[in-house]
Amino acid sequence: MKTLLYNIKELIQVREHLNNKFLKGEEMKTLPSIKNAWLLIEDGKISNYGSMEDMPAIAYEQQVDLNGKMVLPSWVDSHTHLVYAGNREQEFVDRINGLTYEEIAKKGGGIKNSAKKLQETPEDQLYKEAAARLEEVIKMGTGAIEIKSGYGLTTEAELKILRVIKRLKENYPISIKSTFLAAHAVPKSFHNSKAYVEHIIKDMLPVVAKEKLADYIDIFCEKGYFTVEDTKNILEAGAAVGLQGKVHVNQFNAIGGIQESVKQNALSVDHLEIMQEEDYNTLKNTQTMPVALPSCSLFIGIPYAPARKIIDKGLPLALATDYNPGTTPSGNMNLVVSLACIKMKLTPEEAINAATINAAYAMGVSDTLGSITKNKKANLIITDKIPSYGFLPYSFGNNHIDQIILDGKFITY
Ligand code: NIG
Ligand code: FE
Repeated sequence: MKTLLYNIKELIQVREHLNNKFLKGEEMKTLPSIKNAWLLIEDGKISNYGSMEDMPAIAYEQQVDLNGKMVLPSWVDSHTHLVYAGNREQEFVDRINGLTYEEIAKKGGGIKNSAKKLQETPEDQLYKEAAARLEEVIKMGTGAIEIKSGYGLTTEAELKILRVIKRLKENYPISIKSTFLAAHAVPKSFHNSKAYVEHIIKDMLPVVAKEKLADYIDIFCEKGYFTVEDTKNILEAGAAVGLQGKVHVNQFNAIGGIQESVKQNALSVDHLEIMQEEDYNTLKNTQTMPVALPSCSLFIGIPYAPARKIIDKGLPLALATDYNPGTTPSGNMNLVVSLACIKMKLTPEEAINAATINAAYAMGVSDTLGSITKNKKANLIITDKIPSYGFLPYSFGNNHIDQIILDGKFITY
C-alpha cells in the first residue's frame, strides 16, 4: 500500500543523515524541516519525501491533501508506568491539604498503595484499563512508548504486569518496550531493600528473562527506597541476562545513582530533579541519555530538572511523561513539550528534539522512530492548521492534533 501525503505546510524533523543516534548540546537547537512538502508512505514506512516544487511523478493507491497542515514524527514517550490499577486521587487531595509526596508514602500511601490494588486486580481487568490509557495517549500523538512494571512487588503481580504489556505489544500498532521495575519499593514483608533485591534477582529475574518479558531493567535509586549498592546489584544482574538499565535517579536526593548507572552503561537516567555539579560531569561523553519528566514536577510540586543547564553543559536530553497514578496521572506528551519550554526554558526546537529523536534513543528505537528519515516507521502526527511548529508548545493545554498515522495507517479510535 502506497499513501501520498501532499501539500504539507511543513514537514518537521527531517533527518536524512543522522551521524549520531542522539543530539546533544548545541545540536539540539536546530530542527530541520521542509516547507510545502510531500511524503510517501510505503508498507508502513517512510519511503520518500521532498518539496512540492520538485515532486516527481509518483504512483500511489491513496492520496491525502494536507493543505495547511503540518507533519511531524510521533512523540516518543520513553518512561511510563501505564499498567496500574485504580487511581490515587485521595493522595492528590492530601497534597492539596499540605502533605508532601514523601509524607504520604510514609503513612502507607504511594507505590505500596498502588501495589495493593494491583495485586487484587485480575489480569484481564488490568489489560482493559491499560489498553484504554494506551489508546488515549496514541490519540495525543504518542507513537512509541516504554512501559514499566513496578506496581506488583510480588513475583506473581510483577509477571502479571509484564504479561499485560506483552499483550499490548501484540495488539496495538504503537511500538512498545517493556521494563522490569520490581525494585520500585520494598514490600512490608522484607526487612530491608537488600533482602528484597536478592529475592528479585534470585526468584523474579530468571522467569522474566526466560519468558522474554522485559527489554530493560529499572530501579528506584532513592533515600528510603533503594541504595546505590542495590542499584549496582540490580543492574549487574540485569546485564547478565541481557537487560540494559533505565534508572530512576535523583528525584528527591542525589545519592550517587547517576555515577552507578553510567558505570553500568545504562541507556537512560530518568528524573534528575536534584542534580549536583559532579552529576553533569559524570554524564559527559557517555552513551547514557538524561531524561527529564516535567509533568511529574508540575503535579507533585517538586523542582523541575535543570534541563536548560543539562543542554548548556553540552549533554543530550530527552523528555517523557512518567505516566503513573502517583506522581503523573497524565500521558500527554504535548503538555510535556510545553512545560519543557515554559518551566525549563527549552526552545521549541530543543523540546521537540528531546521528545522525538532523543526520546527514541532513550528507549532504544532510534533506528526506526523519532525522525522523518527514509525507511523509518511511518508513525506520524498531522496537526491542524497552526501557523508554525512553535505554536504547539506555545498554545499549551490545547490540542492541535488532527490525525494520527501508525505503521502507515490512519488511526480511527
Ligand atoms: O517515577 N519515582 C518513582 N516512581 C514513580 C512514582 C511512583 C508512585 O508514586 O506511584 C515516578 O515518579
Ligand atoms: Fe517513573
